[in-house]
Amino acid sequence: MISENILLFPTLITVGKREVDELEKESWFSAYLENSNKDGKSQDYLGYQTVHHDKRFIKVFSDIANIIRNHLTTLGVDISIIDVNITKAFFNVKRDLGNPLHNHKENHISFTYYPYIHESCKQQLKFYQDVEKISNDPYEGFLNSTIKYWNDINATSYSFPVNEGDIFVFPSKLCHSVEAEGVEIHKVESFKTIESLRHSRFCVVGDAILTRKSTDGYDRLLMPIENWRKF
Ligand SMILES: [Fe+2]
Repeated sequence: MISENILLFPTLITVGKREVDELEKESWFSAYLENSNKDGKSQDYLGYQTVHHDKRFIKVFSDIANIIRNHLTTLGVDISIIDVNITKAFFNVKRDLGNPLHNHKENHISFTYYPYIHESCKQQLKFYQDVEKISNDPYEGFLNSTIKYWNDINATSYSFPVNEGDIFVFPSKLCHSVEAEGVEIHKVESFKTIESLRHSRFCVVGDAILTRKSTDGYDRLLMPIENWRKF
């Protein structure tokens, strides 16, 4: 009598790595100061979410788009018919605090890029399976209350150490958070000087939607943006 384990339906996260030189770091710090309010705060919901249009970062965002294409290629997707459109990009800069559990599911693919991390701000990025959809949980909470050790099959969440230059690409619907040790509160922190930004975990966050390159045929991809008309 033998038994065999077959693993099904893994979730793909693609991690890219850039070399970040001093000039790029300085450019990000300047961009933050230009795109933050009088309290030194910058976030998408404060209205600062267009840094992907900044000419200083064309190479960065084209590298990010390439990682997104690598992600799609790993999934077996025909990227020759797809355009990657970055819909927004913004700053999530932290010194002491984390980020609450959330997703970006109004988009298709999301990314986080870390051009600068002070050694005192090394929080982990944590991804979660949907609570109702944890594949190997017979019922909600069973695994969390019974297992003796975590592995790839029983984990309901997974934390990654984040290093300078890392680009994480993941499905926008995948829930995630940043856990800062011993810190429960989450709020936007304030940075008014380059010196204060040098003591931060500097994250550039963004989202993308995928569209067809052409209007020929139909395959459930969104039409090219040039085909959209606003009324
Ligand atoms: Fe996020």
